[in-house]
Amino acid sequence: EASQSWQGKKMVITAGGTQEALDPVRYLGNYSSGKMGLALAQAASEAGAQVVLITSIASSPIYGVRTQIVHSAQEMLTAVTAEFATAQVFISAAAVADFRPATRQAQKIKKTPGQKTYTLELETNPDIVAEMAQTKCSGQIVVGFAAETENLVKNAQKKLARKQLDYLIANDVSDSQIGFGSDENAVTIFQAQQAPKVLPRAAKLTIAREIIAHLTPALTSKTEA
Ligand code: C5P
Repeated sequence: EASQSWQGKKMVITAGGTQEALDPVRYLGNYSSGKMGLALAQAASEAGAQVVLITSIASSPIYGVRTQIVHSAQEMLTAVTAEFATAQVFISAAAVADFRPATRQAQKIKKTPGQKTYTLELETNPDIVAEMAQTKCSGQIVVGFAAETENLVKNAQKKLARKQLDYLIANDVSDSQIGFGSDENAVTIFQAQQAPKVLPRAAKLTIAREIIAHLTPALTSKTEA
């Protein structure tokens, strides 16, 4: 029974995009609404888990969820590393920027008269979910998300293996009705050596509850071993 299994289990969830500072007043960001991660936090809390939500998105408090606000991928990595050390599950629903400005200017960047272009140098951010998967202890479960626009099954299975994840949840963002910003989603859950599980289009909270229910057997068998 779901609520029994999650009692006393700690889950770390990330949600929303990251903000990568350019100067004191600007950042590089993305359109992630954080809604899927927030729905997962609510669903996990309902199931009885102790939930820590690490996010760039300020939202109204979710019952039973401890929220920590972060901005950059580096800040998110620091927060996730600290919290996951004492958790059973990490769900990485955040849209983490792959790159950040190589330098954060101390003063506001100014344009010079007549300037036509401005070149920005970027450097690679850490891959938070891959780092957690590589360093996790046995019994810990790491879940990634993937937004795929083509070859969903092939790309999802590759990502599951490459990042050494226990689960990869793929959303097909080629359908503009669902996914980013929407209140609905449709996903497929991939797991090594298992047939993919399709969760058809539904409210994000419904999808989130189904995802938590799908993870429950893994949690029980791993933590009781
Ligand atoms: O490779 P891709 O960005 O599609 O992978 C998506 C998954 O990896 C998501 O779970 C996302 O939260 C995670 N990710 C991460 N750190 C990054 C990039 C992606 O944790 N720098």
